[in-house]
Amino acid sequence: MMFSADSRCSLSCASLIKAAVRPCRSALLPYAGRAVRGLLVLLVLFAGQSMSGRVQAYTDLVEEGRYVFAAAGCVSCHRNDQTLAGGPPIVTPYGTYFPPNITPHREQGIGRWSEEDFVRALRMGISPGGQHYYPAFPYPSYTRMTRRDMQALYAYLMTQPESARQSPPHIIPWPLSSRALISHWKQGGFTPGVAVDDPTRMPQWNRGAYLAKALGHCGECHTPRGFLGTPRSDRYLAGTCSGPEGLRVPNITPDEETGIGRWTTAELDTFLATGRRPDGCYASGLMMEVLGTSCMQLTDYDRQALAFYLASLPPIHNNLDSLCASFEDYDFLE
Ligand code: HEC
Ligand code: HEC
Repeated sequence: MMFSADSRCSLSCASLIKAAVRPCRSALLPYAGRAVRGLLVLLVLFAGQSMSGRVQAYTDLVEEGRYVFAAAGCVSCHRNDQTLAGGPPIVTPYGTYFPPNITPHREQGIGRWSEEDFVRALRMGISPGGQHYYPAFPYPSYTRMTRRDMQALYAYLMTQPESARQSPPHIIPWPLSSRALISHWKQGGFTPGVAVDDPTRMPQWNRGAYLAKALGHCGECHTPRGFLGTPRSDRYLAGTCSGPEGLRVPNITPDEETGIGRWTTAELDTFLATGRRPDGCYASGLMMEVLGTSCMQLTDYDRQALAFYLASLPPIHNNLDSLCASFEDYDFLE
């Protein structure tokens, strides 16, 4: 195209201006040809570069997603063997939930989901078919994730191996099994929307808050629950006798007597990096899993941010020793 346009031009040039310009034309054309060739080479280079630029941007996004995935602890519920085909049942006083297959399998996983579907599930707790999710899927925390983190997470999940494992149905007593009922629960216990930084705090504090509340979902285990399993915001991280699997989960507010107020921020950081408590004992069970799959994968900056944030929280006095002793007679809703 370009060469023919060029020759058309030189033809009309020749017929109009005749001999007078001929030397000029013959002198310029080799340069014009070279310029066009140069332009083409540049175009090819540019196209190649923007292509590899896009591939690079995608690879970066997937890597970012891998990090968000670890920080958000998705693996602890959804891993099955080597894939994300759905983890062990979550037994709660409100029923037994089976985390589903979230591999990119088109029938059994989320392979048909658009990025929008995925963002809506995390942000609103609503499935692509418009159904409400049970809050056993910690979207009340994940709703605070930035759009960018959700996009990265989606990109990462779509690169994971597929599995055709069918997710078993949950076992939930009626009427709690009704998904329509969840919309009522949401009105009282769920505030959708991305986390907003507190401008009066340092960036590292805000990052720590984001890690704890949007990604780390520490509160899903460490905060006692009230009516219909809603975490009690007035008792944030104050510990509970009825955590997952009916386990006691300690108070991790900085209360000196009943929480971790005597730990220094450095000791807390060591705990998050290694599982080692100041008394030399190591965390066990569920918390060790959270540490291994999540906290230990954090960058030094992020882990310290998390410790910094936790240490800054208001201390809440909650003596689980006395509370849990009588727990056998205590009703589950606290
Ligand atoms: C505490 C356990 C737990 C964690 C942690 C968890 N999930 Fe889930 N997830 C669930 C349960 C349970 C469901 C089923 C909810 C329902 O059926 O209403 C679910 C459902 C989902 C669904 C909907 C799948 C479908 O087929 O409709 C997606 C997508 C999902 N989780 C992604 C994630 C991602 C991404 C993360 C990490 C950011 C994550 N989950 C972390 C327990 C968990
Ligand atoms: C799946 C449930 C679960 C989640 C999620 C969880 N924890 Fe824990 N955590 C526990 C349990 C259970 C223990 C008690 C472990 C033990 O006795 O060894 C614990 C112990 C701890 C302790 C030690 C407290 C003490 O007095 O010994 C700290 C600190 C802690 N968790 C911080 C966190 C932080 C920070 C997060 C979020 C990033 C978090 N946890 C998320 C279940 C959880």
